[in-house]
Amino acid sequence: MLTPDLLSQAVETLRRGGVIALPTETVYGLAANAEDELAVRRVFAIKGRPATHPLIVHVARAEELSSWARRVPEEARRLAAAFWPGPLTLVLPRSARATDAVTGGQDTVALRVPDHPVALAVLDALGGGVAAPSANRFGRVSPTTAEHVRVDLGDEVDLLLDGGPCTVGVESTIVDLSSGAPAVLRPGGLAVEEIERVLGRAVPVRTSATVRVSGSLASHYAPRAGVVLAEPSDVASRVEALRAQGRSVGVLGPPTIALPPDVPRYDVPEDPAGAARLLYMRLREADQRGHDVLVACLPRAEGLGIAVRDRLARAAAPRPPGA
Ligand code: TXA
Ligand code: MG
Repeated sequence: MLTPDLLSQAVETLRRGGVIALPTETVYGLAANAEDELAVRRVFAIKGRPATHPLIVHVARAEELSSWARRVPEEARRLAAAFWPGPLTLVLPRSARATDAVTGGQDTVALRVPDHPVALAVLDALGGGVAAPSANRFGRVSPTTAEHVRVDLGDEVDLLLDGGPCTVGVESTIVDLSSGAPAVLRPGGLAVEEIERVLGRAVPVRTSATVRVSGSLASHYAPRAGVVLAEPSDVASRVEALRAQGRSVGVLGPPTIALPPDVPRYDVPEDPAGAARLLYMRLREADQRGHDVLVACLPRAEGLGIAVRDRLARAAAPRPPGA
């Protein structure tokens, strides 16, 4: 998958200030050497993302926490030991190594060790951190295959590493440990229940925080079709009502939902983790068919179902004009 040649090409590209797309277990990332401000700025330019939105620094191992954060609370160490490498991002008070370009000028830095052999090999060989947002254009659905990145960003990346389809499928869970009690800023690929189990206390989800989390803009992760949310028992009647209005409708949901045979379906497994894994892929497939409306069946609000519901709610939110 990752030949020694490709690995050294990736590291050389990062060292000379280039931008590469690389697989992680959550979604593909658009990566630059986190200590190279010009390279980081190019990431913002390629994505079309406002420069004040901070990026996650990806590192090879938990031991590097203390070089990027000036204070590492005991609860951060516990979470890192339990879940890294994995779909968890920790927000901590930044050290001088985390520059304004990466943090958007905030006094905190977001850190994570991704659980993908290709990403880990690159980080290990680089011996540093890479700042990497999801490798999609700002406001669009995140990429979970190399082909998705190619479609979105094409020639704008210097190198695209193909690590196969992402196994988690939604972005990492972001936990703020920078001050006071821990809080989840973005539900994601690690279930909040797991975090609470390790910390032995309740951890609130606070997505509308004053901190700038671009994933918490109302209309983010937006496909082109309009998205309507429905509980499993309401999907069929919503579809019928929309079709009666003459709209072309597709359905995103588990195969157990009964529908008229001529309604295009985008199947995701019924279990929340399975739904998370295929969510973005199916949203993109539905987009290619050009439906007016996609009726999305909500998974149970537990485990990764919380992240899937969050992304679907954003996909269904009103869009800014022209978006
Ligand atoms: O799974 C993931 O997290 C993927 C892969 C590539 O690792 N990355 C990802 O990056 O989703 P991005 O840039 O699309 O989302 C990162 C989120 C943003 O919402 C950003 O605002 C937030 O992390 N973030 C970064 N630094 C932060 C900080 N210091 N305080 C609060 N939020 C922060
Ligand atoms: Mg993103």
